[in-house]
Amino acid sequence: MTSLLPDPAPDFGQPIAVLKHCHGRIRKQLATLDKLLAHLPEFGADAQARQAAAAVLKYFEGAAHLHHEDEEQDLIPMLRALAQGEDAATLQALAPVILQDHKDMDALWQDLHEQLTAIAEGTAATLSASAVQRFIQRYAAHMEREESTLAPMALRLFGPEQMAQMGAAMQRRRGIGATTTTVAAPAIGQAVADLRKDYGQASLNETDAMDDPMLQFTQWFEQALKAEVNEPNAMSVATVGANGRPSSRIVLVKQFDERGFTWYTNYDSRKGHELDDRPYAALLFFWSELERQVRIEGRVERTSSEESDRYFRSRPLKSRLSAIASQQSAPIGSRAELEQHYEDVARQAGEDPARPGNWGGFRLVPDRLEFWQGRRSRFHDRIVYERQEDGSWTRLRLQP
Ligand SMILES: Cc1cc2nc3c(=O)[nH]c(=O)nc-3n(C[C@H](O)[C@H](O)[C@H](O)COP(=O)(O)O)c2cc1C
Repeated sequence: MTSLLPDPAPDFGQPIAVLKHCHGRIRKQLATLDKLLAHLPEFGADAQARQAAAAVLKYFEGAAHLHHEDEEQDLIPMLRALAQGEDAATLQALAPVILQDHKDMDALWQDLHEQLTAIAEGTAATLSASAVQRFIQRYAAHMEREESTLAPMALRLFGPEQMAQMGAAMQRRRGIGATTTTVAAPAIGQAVADLRKDYGQASLNETDAMDDPMLQFTQWFEQALKAEVNEPNAMSVATVGANGRPSSRIVLVKQFDERGFTWYTNYDSRKGHELDDRPYAALLFFWSELERQVRIEGRVERTSSEESDRYFRSRPLKSRLSAIASQQSAPIGSRAELEQHYEDVARQAGEDPARPGNWGGFRLVPDRLEFWQGRRSRFHDRIVYERQEDGSWTRLRLQP
């Protein structure tokens, strides 16, 4: 009788229990797949087989992906931010294995996907036994790895705040929960006002902060890479026009060192003209997964032609052709016209096109950097560095 009762999932207040519960569902789907393999030779793609194939397809096309994203985008980055010593070493070894498992299981799934679709549609009645076995074995080993190591580590390291953060992210991913349920238009304003996240992963104090802000930046950037934050080198660049109005856009930082922060663009774009007129800019990095922001201000100069050439040559051919074909920020009649222009450029450019003179690097030479670390109840840490006439840096704390 009890098997007929629904199998209620724990609520998202206990995200690790939800993940464990997902494993239970995965195991059920794998068992169905195994039974289907045995069923087909005798009964073909009968109604029962079609139903089973459809159920397995539905699960592995939907819920299983969300489960992988929970781990890749929340569980592992959050553990990386907290783990120290032996835990950090375990994670460093295990996280790449888990991520590779996901990729391999996706690849194995592709083999099965087509066969199961044909069975669900009743147009075929065969499944590759070896593909099924490989998929089942890989998943089983993967879940065992997570249950024996990652889950206990999360239960040890996560406090109530991290549990709430992770649960909320999982709900958002599934389109459920207070912040993402469909709200009637007049209620959206309130829903936005109610979006509220408390920060508590880390702190930044005067004794931790390095004397040299570029070293501090390097350390945070490396941590952002390690935590696999989304687009760690994406930064906002704010410039000011001749009319005094600011404008901002995202670009990718391609180099940072003691000389400053370098990105590449079209010198005839809006930002290019604004920087020619007023060579000052403000950069902003926001690494939400680590609850960190870095604000950087300074004077902007162009990189040397040699440096721009070097970087241009390092880009894939299609990106070089795009840079040549696009008069960035100038209007054009249609997408078709843009693509035609690209084709014309590609036809004429050959395999090693030269860098156009209006494309190259800008480097911001920083004179002010602020490192912001989110803390509980909006009582954040803010450490600011300011460059002095003699090139040294002063450091001070700002109120949140
Ligand atoms: C993630 C991301 C990365 C980008 N990287 C660059 C870049 O490295 N260089 C660039 O010129 N534009 C980049 N862009 C496009 C810019 O945001 C912007 O649209 C373009 O530079 C034109 O800006 P402007 O008209 O203000 O000059 C990027 C946009 C995004 C969203």
